Amino acid sequence: MTHGSRKTPIIRMYHVYKLYDSKSALSDISLEIEENEFLFVTGASGAGKTTLLKLLYFGESATNGQVIIDGVNLLRIPKHQIPFLRRKFGIIFQDYKLIPSKTVFENLALVLEAAGHKRKFVEKKVKSVLRIVGLEEKQGALPPSLSGGEQQRIAIARAVIGDPKIILADEPTGNLDSGSAEIIFDLLNRFHKDGSTIILATHDPELIHSINGRKIVLDKGQLISDHKIKEA
Ligand SMILES: Nc1ncnc2c1ncn2[C@@H]1O[C@H](COP(=O)(O)OP(=O)(O)O)[C@@H](O)[C@H]1O
Ligand SMILES: [Mg+2]
Repeated sequence: MTHGSRKTPIIRMYHVYKLYDSKSALSDISLEIEENEFLFVTGASGAGKTTLLKLLYFGESATNGQVIIDGVNLLRIPKHQIPFLRRKFGIIFQDYKLIPSKTVFENLALVLEAAGHKRKFVEKKVKSVLRIVGLEEKQGALPPSLSGGEQQRIAIARAVIGDPKIILADEPTGNLDSGSAEIIFDLLNRFHKDGSTIILATHDPELIHSINGRKIVLDKGQLISDHKIKEA
């Protein structure tokens, strides 16, 4: 393999297979993702998008093949290192997955406390990410009192609070109206501009056209297309 001046891709998958019981969810996926790409993972429901994301953040492990994240081969990583590897990722789900009984502040602070940060730093950082998503005044609120769009903005704040290199978003606007979806996209674009690598899974072709990025298509677990998105 020749590298020249090109950096090693932050994510590399080689001949990756995933079976659930004996049923194939992903089949022979080879894919390299460069740092600071905005990658759309598309395909019909059941095509394997969520499974692909799970293999990256250790939600599932591959049945076969290699997954290499930022130089670390997931096959060879000892179990105790998994939490450290997970911190490279900020993850956003369609259903937000906030803890309903904890305040916005507590939902965000948890991430940093788990990583061992001090109270002072935690308070400052929570404030600053809430400012970025425009919801500073909601830090004492419980998630169920917020709109879907607001909950997703809090989930984005939680995803980025640990300064992850990679943001994974699985159908992040699937439950939102178009106005809220646009705010979510503006935020993701902002993090992309600031240097994050973004991987967004969606089955909605409407979401894809406006962004200068790259799109792959999965079909029944196979990668059938991979190309740059032309600027709108
Ligand atoms: N935990 C699981 N157990 C068994 N089968 C699963 C599981 N998760 C996903 N699958 C199957 O794997 C295939 C891909 O699913 P998924 O990755 O969720 O697709 P997508 O996100 O594109 O809708 C589907 O056939 C689905 O039914
Ligand atoms: Mg899915």
